[in-house]
Amino acid sequence: MITGKTTVVGIMGDPVEHSLSPPMHNAAFQELKLDYVYVPFHVKRGNLALAMEGARKMGIKGLNLTIPHKIEVINYLDEVDEVAKLIGAVNTVNFTDDLVTGYNTDGIGAVKAIEEVRSIKNKKIIIIGAGGAARAISFQLLLSGAGEVLIANRTREKACILADNLNEISATSVGCLGLDDELTLELEDTDVLINTTPIGMHPHEDDEPLVTADMMHPDLVVNDIVYNPLETGLLREADKAGAIKVPGTKMLIYQGMEAFRIWTGKTPQLETFETVLMKELNR
Ligand SMILES: NC(=O)c1ccc[n+]([C@@H]2O[C@H](COP(=O)([O-])OP(=O)(O)OC[C@H]3O[C@@H](n4cnc5c(N)ncnc54)[C@H](OP(=O)(O)O)[C@@H]3O)[C@@H](O)[C@H]2O)c1
Repeated sequence: MITGKTTVVGIMGDPVEHSLSPPMHNAAFQELKLDYVYVPFHVKRGNLALAMEGARKMGIKGLNLTIPHKIEVINYLDEVDEVAKLIGAVNTVNFTDDLVTGYNTDGIGAVKAIEEVRSIKNKKIIIIGAGGAARAISFQLLLSGAGEVLIANRTREKACILADNLNEISATSVGCLGLDDELTLELEDTDVLINTTPIGMHPHEDDEPLVTADMMHPDLVVNDIVYNPLETGLLREADKAGAIKVPGTKMLIYQGMEAFRIWTGKTPQLETFETVLMKELNR
């Protein structure tokens, strides 16, 4: 029951009505008997400064930020965690009495998802895409000890800009390529492939995946961060190749669990988040 003592956290985005975070977090609060509630806030572009000021004044404890606020929110924080600073985007904010701090849990979410099936230490990893998600994941991969990272993108120049940014902070080799024969060649000895493009996402389930079974090998870990549909075209190709699949739901779950830990100091059960998410996605 919500009372005057209930602690409020939530998500600000535009749109926000399709967010799956409220049911996941609220189920975990109940499970751990924490007097918290997670609320969606529809904050339109242009209103974020006021909304953040309001959040401070209303004693909100924590926020997630989604499209289009992840970069702009940095202007309204007192401090930004090192990883979020490198990524240049914040998806989680923690409010204490005297400090508002920003974090980015997307990268750690992706790394934890992959590490359910394979350690990324010293592994060769190819990321397809060079947008916001690729940026968050690639910085975290370097910080978590990846051996080699290649960014492959339709617009090769964007992949090379991201690779340059990554090379500035790490001794790990980071390269860039386009979506051509070079990608096929590099995949031969790659350990982990991560798709961060929206290809195959609802309502475009029938899009041809950028990597097909003939380009994969059975020991390859294939992570598609698209989670709607649950089984994307890329994951079906991974099945055909006998490769190891990591669905996009895992990143969504782990990034949320990390935010939950930042706000409450407690680690929720993976199963709680997963059961609720699957129920929502299967509706
Ligand atoms: N599972 C999770 O928790 C999670 C978290 C965050 C995001 N996501 C998903 O990740 C996806 C990307 O998000 P984002 O924020 O990184 O998007 P973004 O910043 O817009 O970047 C999209 C990237 O995909 C590439 N791309 C788009 N359409 C393409 C096409 N038809 N062919 C080849 N490449 C194409 C773009 O290439 P160009 O540079 O050439 O345009 C760009 O590199 C979305 O589907 C989002 O839902 C999932």
